[in-house]
Amino acid sequence: MGKRKRTDGGGSTALFKTKAGVIAATLGSAVGLGSIWRFPAEAQQNGGGAFLLIYLGCVLILGIPVMLAETSLGRAGRADAVGSYMKLAPGSHWWLAGGLGVLASYLIISFYMVVAGWTLQYLWDSITGALYAGADGEPARLIEQTFHHKMESYIGSDIAPLISTFAMIVLNIGVLMMGVQKGIERASNIMMPLLFLLLMLFCIYALTLPGASEGLVYFFRPDFSRITWGVAANALGQTFFSLSLGIGVLITYASYYPSDTNLTRTATTVSGLTTLVAVMMGMIIFPTVFSFNLDIDQLRGTTLVFVTLPEVFSQMPGGRVWSILFFTLLLVAALTSTISLSEVSILFVQKRFKRSRLSATLIMMCPLFLLSALCSLSFGSLADLKIFGLTIFNFLDTFATNWILPICALCVVIFVGWFIPKGTFRREVTNDGSVATRLYPVVNFIVRWIAPVLILVILFSSILK
Ligand code: PHE
Repeated sequence: MGKRKRTDGGGSTALFKTKAGVIAATLGSAVGLGSIWRFPAEAQQNGGGAFLLIYLGCVLILGIPVMLAETSLGRAGRADAVGSYMKLAPGSHWWLAGGLGVLASYLIISFYMVVAGWTLQYLWDSITGALYAGADGEPARLIEQTFHHKMESYIGSDIAPLISTFAMIVLNIGVLMMGVQKGIERASNIMMPLLFLLLMLFCIYALTLPGASEGLVYFFRPDFSRITWGVAANALGQTFFSLSLGIGVLITYASYYPSDTNLTRTATTVSGLTTLVAVMMGMIIFPTVFSFNLDIDQLRGTTLVFVTLPEVFSQMPGGRVWSILFFTLLLVAALTSTISLSEVSILFVQKRFKRSRLSATLIMMCPLFLLSALCSLSFGSLADLKIFGLTIFNFLDTFATNWILPICALCVVIFVGWFIPKGTFRREVTNDGSVATRLYPVVNFIVRWIAPVLILVILFSSILK
């Protein structure tokens, strides 16, 4: 293949400025509530170390190749999710796959923003001390009840969670309005190092607690008897969600990658660091839970972060400071992910409807005030409003995460594996032949054959659930 000098397109597309910015923004999208909040709870419910092993396998075998496929599609298309398909398969219906991605990302932000809002409120309450009022000096059982009660009455009330959800939307608008380099890239460059610093502090603290090793054993020792098809499907689902695969986020961000970005290195770095965050969270949560003699079987997603951890902080010396640091960590993680999810539809409107950055941001973000409000209220006044037996929040979560996400991911791998113009995938992965990638044939094989089959397995397992 002849070498061609790679240029950065017609200059109409915004690009990330530095290599570090590319990694920080992509990693910012990946590391979010999925790795920090969902992962430890999933691990606990699916057999501890066994789940971790399957998750690691999924990231390696499926996560990295699918990430490569999606970023190749985005950089070759140099447009939004819909536009990239249109450019690479003109006159076909493939653009619908991009459209489904825009829809999925939009539905995901609408409920993700609500949980992100809760973290903002918990951070605020840690700063003012309101979170810990009334919990001092109580016996352990009562403390747990206190925090349970606090969480339930908070998310079940109407106004307070609405305010924090709206504040989160406004924060997103603030960053997104400033554009790709000055908004997304700069925010990620500041927030991601901060996130790792905080995680490291927590890790050191947790690992030096008395009895920490018991928690580590729980987290790392695989209980193979608990591995079932369901557990494997959950690990696959977690891989897709935590690496932000399949719904156009990576197409959108990769359209901002400079032409000399090494896609393989980016995909492996981002996947590796995201997995590291998840593993570090496990190394924080389990030792802490064991050290403070809390009931490990009680851990569930929401409870873990909004009940169990405050319970721990209330018994820890300097607990309030740790509480502030933790909710800052969670907020930063959630913010960089909501930004990436929002960017999918913003670039879509900007490109397809020829809107300015500012108007595209407002057009797409303002309806969220209504949609996220509905999700937020579904824990309160709208709790009885059910769609297929689920609250609005749970319906959107299930529908977008378990259904549309795998379908979009399936489209990405089938398109890149079989229908993308010949040679495009190889050209993107090797930067026109200037990067030697011996792994390309393996990756291509996975994208064509293995990934579609495994994604179908996830889909069917959610049908059978
Ligand atoms: N990866 C993010 C997380 O783990 C969530 C996300 C999913 C973001 C899909 C973008 C796209 O929280």
